[in-house]
Amino acid sequence: MANTILIGSQWGDEGKGKIIDVITTEHQWVVRYQGGNNAGHTVEIGEERHVLHLLPSGILREGCRCVIGNGVVIDPAALKKEIDEVEARGYGTRDRLFVSDRAHVIMPYHRLIDEYREGAAAAKDKIGTTKRGIGPSYADKAARVGLRMGDMRLADFAERVRQKVEENNVILQALGAPLLSADEVAAEYQALADALIPYIQDTVTLLNEADRRGESILFEGAQGVMLDIDYGTYPYVTSSNATAGGACTGSGIPPHRIERVIGVVKGYTTRVGEGPFPTELHDASGEALRKAGHEFGATTGRPRRCGWFDAVVARYSAMVNGIDFWALTKMDVLDDQPVIKVCVAYEYEGQRYEQVPGAITVLEGCVPVYEELPGWQCTTSTCTCFADLPDQAKAYIARLEELTGVPVGIVSVGPRRDATFVVESVYAPQA
Ligand code: IMP
Repeated sequence: MANTILIGSQWGDEGKGKIIDVITTEHQWVVRYQGGNNAGHTVEIGEERHVLHLLPSGILREGCRCVIGNGVVIDPAALKKEIDEVEARGYGTRDRLFVSDRAHVIMPYHRLIDEYREGAAAAKDKIGTTKRGIGPSYADKAARVGLRMGDMRLADFAERVRQKVEENNVILQALGAPLLSADEVAAEYQALADALIPYIQDTVTLLNEADRRGESILFEGAQGVMLDIDYGTYPYVTSSNATAGGACTGSGIPPHRIERVIGVVKGYTTRVGEGPFPTELHDASGEALRKAGHEFGATTGRPRRCGWFDAVVARYSAMVNGIDFWALTKMDVLDDQPVIKVCVAYEYEGQRYEQVPGAITVLEGCVPVYEELPGWQCTTSTCTCFADLPDQAKAYIARLEELTGVPVGIVSVGPRRDATFVVESVYAPQA
């Protein structure tokens, strides 16, 4: 059994929750290592549909132990709500959910700063954030003025909260946001602390001990490589490292203990929020993909922008993350397309780009170079193995492999847990 990192290889929403849920059977531990409740991982089990924002998807597999690592920012009210929801559906959390004492806390002023800063920004400067307070919370972490989950155990926690609220009211006032009552927030956060303290642990030691015992760990990425604060389309990114490197810094497991990196890609591309998206479709084909793929944000409900598969992005993601194989999702969404386009390179001012350029001004001007492949125009959602796929779908997969230099090891043809199969020559799951 191998310690595995699973990451989104486009702009998020690739269907990671579902793939994680499928491969969790191979791992005893599932770890969230970055982001916060800006993420929305959807898992469908039988007739039940679960949308998880903070809890690792492993919480839906009995016996699987779950960690929210130090690299995550935690809105305690959102965490408490999610724990209550999964408990109400019969999934126990008490002995198998562990929250890092080093993870930073999202405070109500972080959410207000996020919302009012976005509201005040000129249209071209808006990031289109989820307004969950993610960026301001990471900013406080970097500025070394944040509160951490471990602080909840301190006798003077409520007093610390009160002080932080008073300090931040100055910022809220400058932004024209409503001011917060320090006493009310302190009382609310003390009650949340009382509920969450039983889950708070030194997860760095816990995970390293599990690793030494030979138990295998799955690192569940949130968002996607193009939203990574360093490698994404900065400034139109989230505030954490969604790339594979984030799994180590966000959990405390050293790099040499990682054995496998799986990249999740959709058979096409989507993005929510602002920022460049070279293969975006503004016509009926984009609308058709949105409709067929139910492309609406799991967290905010916003319609996702849709476009063709971008092999430049996937190639870049393979390079930055060291992807061993792809999990290719939502192939069934392409079922009705007579012709499928794939972006093989970009052009900008007469120059060809095989990799994603760092300068946002260049990326914004990049024009995709397309190749056209014939569609299969039949249903793939009933396929149960690779051999079942129509020839055109197999050819499409082969072309994506060629263009990215990475094989496809898992294919998903529908939202249900069982609408997934492996390509055994690439990935043979262990019991
Ligand atoms: P933030 O993470 O809320 O600060 O938002 C920054 C950018 O990341 C915005 O464009 C969001 O739409 C995007 N974003 C954040 N989380 C997700 C996600 O889970 N899926 C897709 N986009 C996301």
